[in-house]
Amino acid sequence: MNEQNGSIATLSIDIGGSGIKGMVLNSDGTPMTERSRVETPQPAKPEPIIEAIAQLAANQGKFDRVSVGFPGVVRKGVIGTAANLDPDWINFDLGTTLSEKLAKPVRVANDADIQGLGAISGQGVELVITLGTGFGSALFLNGKLVPNLELGHHCFRKGETYEQQLGRVALDEIGKKKWNSRLEKAIASLEHAFNYDYLYIGGGNTDKITFELPANVKIVPNVSGILGGIALWQESG
Ligand code: BGC
Repeated sequence: MNEQNGSIATLSIDIGGSGIKGMVLNSDGTPMTERSRVETPQPAKPEPIIEAIAQLAANQGKFDRVSVGFPGVVRKGVIGTAANLDPDWINFDLGTTLSEKLAKPVRVANDADIQGLGAISGQGVELVITLGTGFGSALFLNGKLVPNLELGHHCFRKGETYEQQLGRVALDEIGKKKWNSRLEKAIASLEHAFNYDYLYIGGGNTDKITFELPANVKIVPNVSGILGGIALWQESG
């Protein structure tokens, strides 16, 4: 327990392809510190990233536990895939390593899953996609997460995946206008496949969206990626 106010303080970290962000939240998700950001070390291997997180943690003051959003498949703290980081991550036990380094309990989950936990209403079928370096996705039924949905690497159109068509590399290559028209097609395709009640769109590139979204599609603020760090401790282990 945090001695200062009797509430449990969670350091919530989001590991991204370009930046690592973190802030401390109290039990109801209220920020207790300013969000800090450090550049993702390159090459983005486990050791320098853990060092960067330790540095960020040291600047965030006191906390009792840690949530980490990782841009890949995560099972029980162990990394399964890391498409936009470094292959050294595969099979790396981030949960245990970071817990030993910070001497606190740590939970790690997919970044889009955490973003979703911070954004959804908990009613019906809710799909979340994130538009950043990669293309993240998360699916919920009545608030219950189906972990590690990896739509980003599935075929979307013209023999390319959602991530190849809508990730950061594609956006830089084709520009905002074409990217928007692809995104409109992606939303139509996802609605057809999932028949969701709501689709939430998060991630750093949501500010590039220029078309009017359908009524059942909402943009979620970037901070959901951090706020979901609290909800992660309400999920079963
Ligand atoms: C990864 C996902 C991740 C997404 C957004 C994809 O390349 O496979 O696990 O959620 O990028 O970071």
